[in-house]
Amino acid sequence: MVDIDKCQMTRYPAEVLAQRAKPVEKIDDNIRQFVDKMFDLMIKYKGVGFAAPQAGVSLRLFIISLDGSREHLKVFVNPTVTPSGEFDTNEEGCLSVPGIYTKIRRYKQCAVTATDLDGNEFKDQGEGLYARALQHEYDHIEGMTILNRMSQTARIAHRKQLKKLQERGK
Ligand code: NI
Repeated sequence: MVDIDKCQMTRYPAEVLAQRAKPVEKIDDNIRQFVDKMFDLMIKYKGVGFAAPQAGVSLRLFIISLDGSREHLKVFVNPTVTPSGEFDTNEEGCLSVPGIYTKIRRYKQCAVTATDLDGNEFKDQGEGLYARALQHEYDHIEGMTILNRMSQTARIAHRKQLKKLQERGK
């Protein structure tokens, strides 16, 4: 059971962001309320995607809305993301790693299978920003952030901001 009132924006170096999240066992009102909370946090901090560990909850669940609208909100419970095709390198940021925008290499396309909030399994295909968002959010539930994906050069270039985040997390 997710304690919705305790959910808050969670940032590096919080341990929950480095853990492989656990499957959602039952899609019930608590999970639906938690998704509302995730959406609120995503909008408050102006993101286009948000994963459960970013709210401090280690569950395999993320949301994406590329234009930030509720109308276009997609919810992915227990997803499997399978990237394919060529690589594409583009600037990326993460609400849980504030102040760092850096080039991240991703696959151009990906397929996703997940369960929606009604408990129905669905499949989708993504490319461009959508494919990038799917891979970014999937990383979160696997215990990874852009910090695990950035180049050594970028890590050095952003060392001051990284140190600041580490100090703030103590
Ligand atoms: Ni992120």
